[in-house]
Amino acid sequence: MDIGLKVWNEVKDNLSSAKVYLKEFLFFNAIFILFSFLIIDNRIIVFTLIILLFLLSLVFLNMVGYKRKGELNEVKSVVAGIRKNTFNRPEEIKLSKNLQALQEEIKQMFEKEINDIEYLKKLERVRTEFLANVSHELRTPIFAIQGYIETLLDGAIDDKNVNKNFLDKANQHTINLSNLLSDLIDISMIESGEMRMSYRYFDINEYISQIIQEMTTMAKEKNIELVYHPAKAGLQLFGDKSKLKQVFTNLITNAIKYTEHGKVEVLVEEEQKYAKIIIRDTGIGISQEDIARIFERFYRVDKARSRAVGGTGLGLAIVKHIVEAHNSKIEVKSEPGVGSEFSFRLKK
Ligand SMILES: Nc1ncnc2c1ncn2[C@@H]1O[C@H](COP(=O)(O)OP(=O)(O)O)[C@@H](O)[C@H]1O
Ligand SMILES: [Mg+2]
Repeated sequence: MDIGLKVWNEVKDNLSSAKVYLKEFLFFNAIFILFSFLIIDNRIIVFTLIILLFLLSLVFLNMVGYKRKGELNEVKSVVAGIRKNTFNRPEEIKLSKNLQALQEEIKQMFEKEINDIEYLKKLERVRTEFLANVSHELRTPIFAIQGYIETLLDGAIDDKNVNKNFLDKANQHTINLSNLLSDLIDISMIESGEMRMSYRYFDINEYISQIIQEMTTMAKEKNIELVYHPAKAGLQLFGDKSKLKQVFTNLITNAIKYTEHGKVEVLVEEEQKYAKIIIRDTGIGISQEDIARIFERFYRVDKARSRAVGGTGLGLAIVKHIVEAHNSKIEVKSEPGVGSEFSFRLKK
């Protein structure tokens, strides 16, 4: 009795799972019945056949339902597994042979989900790190300014030996602070995709000469020669002049800042479809390990030195973004103690 009930429940379950095929089932039965009536005269045989067909169909539906239920359960358990994070790797997802295609799809979906989550986690880490860096970088000049002002207020203001010096130092830190803020604004504009580029052709010789002129004082103060080797007269290059100004200013400033003696050269070398722009110095150089990292935000080979010369550690990150927006790539060659060369290409 108990077993009978169990079997009946099972059959009911199977049949309900096969319900989706009911239309096809009725359709074929109807055709068969129609043909039987047309072809066979004997009513008894026809009815027997119909009953037989009906029973066979039930058995068939039961089998199909059973299989369908099994497959659905398999898929359900895999999906539930993904939902409950029971899988660590896509290889752990397994379905029976006839569901291979589905298995591959689910695996790929799972893999994509893992990657998306990884990516989001990484973004979150980068954001937290950036915030920590920003706070730290802001704190340094603010604390320094605070320190100098307090010392001055405590009496140093009347000490002719130090008062001007302290004010100069506090002033230098306010300059650093303001540099940092403007670099931060640039970075956030660039990274939020708000940097609007406006490309046009311009005379590269005129353009660079102007920038060189503006930066000569800075070079002279360090006794460094700043030289421009122009391209052929009238050469027109394609780019966003105002954004490129930031690139040139940053690269030339770095070249001057990180050079103790010698010269800084800017060269434009014409190629077939592009012109290669090179900023070369005879400075302290950068080691191979550091070259891989100097474009990261806030990365500086020597923090104290960079800060002393008014650096923020954001300059090259900004340069990289702008050069890449010009569909170009910034390249670095450098040898510690000998000098560095930064270059990129602009379209002719
Ligand atoms: N021309 C160069 N010669 C030597 N080191 C350089 C040069 N340009 C950049 N660097 C190194 O790369 C770091 C990152 O540069 P940048 O992003 O412009 O930041 P910073 O504000 O410190 O100049 C610098 O701190 C410096 O250590
Ligand atoms: Mg810099």
